[in-house]
Amino acid sequence: MNYDLFRALHILSVIAWMAGLLYLPRIFIYHIQNHDKAEVTSVFRMMERKLIKLIMNPAMIAAWIFGCGLIYIDYKARGAGFLTQAWFLTKIAGIIAITGWHHYLTVTFKKLDRGEDIGSEKYWRIVNEVPFVIAIIMVLAVTLEFGA
Ligand code: HEM
Repeated sequence: MNYDLFRALHILSVIAWMAGLLYLPRIFIYHIQNHDKAEVTSVFRMMERKLIKLIMNPAMIAAWIFGCGLIYIDYKARGAGFLTQAWFLTKIAGIIAITGWHHYLTVTFKKLDRGEDIGSEKYWRIVNEVPFVIAIIMVLAVTLEFGA
């Protein structure tokens, strides 16, 4: 029961987190396209700030809390063996990568907010695939549990 409830809450937090991670760079693109229109960029700036503060940061914290809860429940149920299995190590690598990506996006927002250059539209269109690729790897790691 506890495990399934934590799993549900973990997946819901991850959905909200991923939505933010995938949407923020889209707003960056609109922001870059309209960089010379102060009235328009002030709206994008507010959207970016709200998305980070109200959705992405809380969702990341919740995903971490429920994810760590799942690690604890797994540990109680099956011992420490899974901690060194390939699927779990892959998941850990994914967690580091996606949390790092979140950090990169928030640092980028601060730069944009100060009026600094954050790269081209094309760059953001391409790198916006990064979190989705990481997510695919993470979901396959936990569902297939390869190397278990
Ligand atoms: C932020 C830190 C995270 C931690 C500490 C964490 C940890 C965990 C753990 C321990 C499990 C249970 C694995 C099992 O016993 O089978 C789990 C399940 C899951 N995680 Fe995460 N995770 C995190 C982030 C993410 C992210 C970013 C994604 C997707 C992009 C994700 C997707 C999933 C899914 C879909 C499941 C459910 C798998 C299933 O049982 O069917 N997690 N997570």
